[in-house]
Amino acid sequence: MCLPQAGGWPPIFMKLLKTTPRNIKRAAALIKAGGIVAFPTETVYGLGADGFNPAACARIFEIKRRPRFDPLILHAASLKQAARLFRRVPAPALRLMKSFWPGPLTLVLPKSAAVPDIVTSGLATVAVRVPANPAALALIKAAGRPIAAPSANRFGRLSPTSAAHVKKQLGAGPDMILDGGKTRIGVESTIITFVKGRPVLLRPGGLPLEEIEKISGVAARAAPSGQRAPAAPGRLKKHYSPKARLRLIAPGQSVKPGSSAAYLAFTKKPAGSFLAVRVLSARGDLREAAANLFSALHRLENSGAKIIYAEKVPPHGLGRAIMDRLRRAAA
Ligand code: TXA
Ligand code: MG
Repeated sequence: MCLPQAGGWPPIFMKLLKTTPRNIKRAAALIKAGGIVAFPTETVYGLGADGFNPAACARIFEIKRRPRFDPLILHAASLKQAARLFRRVPAPALRLMKSFWPGPLTLVLPKSAAVPDIVTSGLATVAVRVPANPAALALIKAAGRPIAAPSANRFGRLSPTSAAHVKKQLGAGPDMILDGGKTRIGVESTIITFVKGRPVLLRPGGLPLEEIEKISGVAARAAPSGQRAPAAPGRLKKHYSPKARLRLIAPGQSVKPGSSAAYLAFTKKPAGSFLAVRVLSARGDLREAAANLFSALHRLENSGAKIIYAEKVPPHGLGRAIMDRLRRAAA
């Protein structure tokens, strides 16, 4: 069952391989040879290639069926390696890097000449982060170059928070899937850019906006007045979608149960009988809810339900990222 492969790697690489030092070494060798490796980060699994190898990066777009206008994130192992990918690092960006890296924060700044155009889809800016997952960091270090990696799902579909999720959607597309278990944070990184030195939010994610604002000392919500808001080209209205239709509802709102309906609750199981039910966090903890979000949606999708009712969550902290994903899944 060998699908298109650049390197003709032996079939052993099709299996899920635990993130042992030996397998990480093999993965790094694959990356250096132009191969594609799916690997765990603290947010979601990434589909990785040598960020300086345009042909390898092109394969990421093919495997994901991702449009070429949607740029990739580069993953670095250190602040120093990351900084070399930017033309220069302004002071407010450096403050955020020092406070939150390694971690679920991606920064978008003008790119250095080292970054190939295919990574940025021709934009003059590049998105970079240092992930806080020991296996991811070890892989980038061993590869000796930044790793370009979008989330390891098919374009527009549910993001992967386990190696099994990657396999379900991408099958034998990647040359190797590193299995580091369930990801800790469960939603993608928060993406920030800067307009006139002020932070601007491009995507809510695993780092709560409130924490960024504490360090920046200013609101990071939208572009300052009079500025056209910059955008992340891949932030389409419809995204993160399960196969079933998803409908957003108020917690406890009465909906029609049934054998083709599934239910995603925030804290409490609904009354009535549904094909499948998942509770994000019985104690109402938004971090726990975010960590469970995509695995719950994968489960509900696998149930074969035609419709998923999903309860809204409070839109602060990690709730902002959860609501963003649910709104787009429902679009
Ligand atoms: O947590 C994460 O960020 C995960 C893990 C694997 O690191 N990665 C991830 O990548 O979510 P992806 O490709 O699924 O989402 C990256 C988003 C896309 O919406 C893309 O349009 C945006 O980042 N992006 C990339 N480069 C950009 C740039 N130069 N300017 C604006 N947006 C950019
Ligand atoms: Mg994605």
